[in-house]
Amino acid sequence: MKVTDFSSKLIHWYHHHHRDLPWRHTSDPYQIWLSEVILQQTRVAQGLPYYLRFVEKYPTVQAMAEADEQDILRTWQGLGYYSRARNMHQTARQIVQEFNGVFPNSYEQLLRLKGVGNYTAAAIASFAFGEAVPAVDGNVYRVLARLFGIKTDIASHAAKKEFFELAKTLIPADNAAFFNQAMIEFGAIQCQPVAPDCLLCPFQDSCYAFQNGQQSVLPVKAKK
Ligand code: ADE
Repeated sequence: MKVTDFSSKLIHWYHHHHRDLPWRHTSDPYQIWLSEVILQQTRVAQGLPYYLRFVEKYPTVQAMAEADEQDILRTWQGLGYYSRARNMHQTARQIVQEFNGVFPNSYEQLLRLKGVGNYTAAAIASFAFGEAVPAVDGNVYRVLARLFGIKTDIASHAAKKEFFELAKTLIPADNAAFFNQAMIEFGAIQCQPVAPDCLLCPFQDSCYAFQNGQQSVLPVKAKK
């Protein structure tokens, strides 16, 4: 399949099937960062009310930086992994102190933020600033491993580079935000871990896993 066919089919799928989620209506890097921090280990349905509460209570990075830590932890209550909330607060302070309260606006600069790794930096850079850098999370590993028949252990160091490089060849320079949202969404609701909806999939004809009956084998994750 041609690269441009892949991204246009994917984005076409996205336009018809995506969920209407509030962080998809903003290009504010602070709100996008907030949504990604909340969704790191949390399902969308559970994270959604927390996202709305945080945006209301702390509408800007300054507001979050100035907030009392106990107040932030209270708002976080129920999400678990409280170190995430503490790190989030620290990062808000870092942005105020080191970046004059202005959110960094490129992938490279975003990587300088505490607790912001490749995935989150790429998500913010693309959704807020349109930068064409792929946001590769577990959903994206699964989609690419199945479509392209990649058998590298997704927990390995080599996989990180291999999947990122492959995604770089697929992401369209002029539609990076939609492409990244679409990859995440496609993994979440179509190419699901168990029982992917292959019969209604636009990539049926070209999907390695479907053609070879390997949906339950791919992606490969070696047991520790
Ligand atoms: N999980 C992580 N980031 C997400 C996003 N932007 N939309 C839906 N689910 C997500």
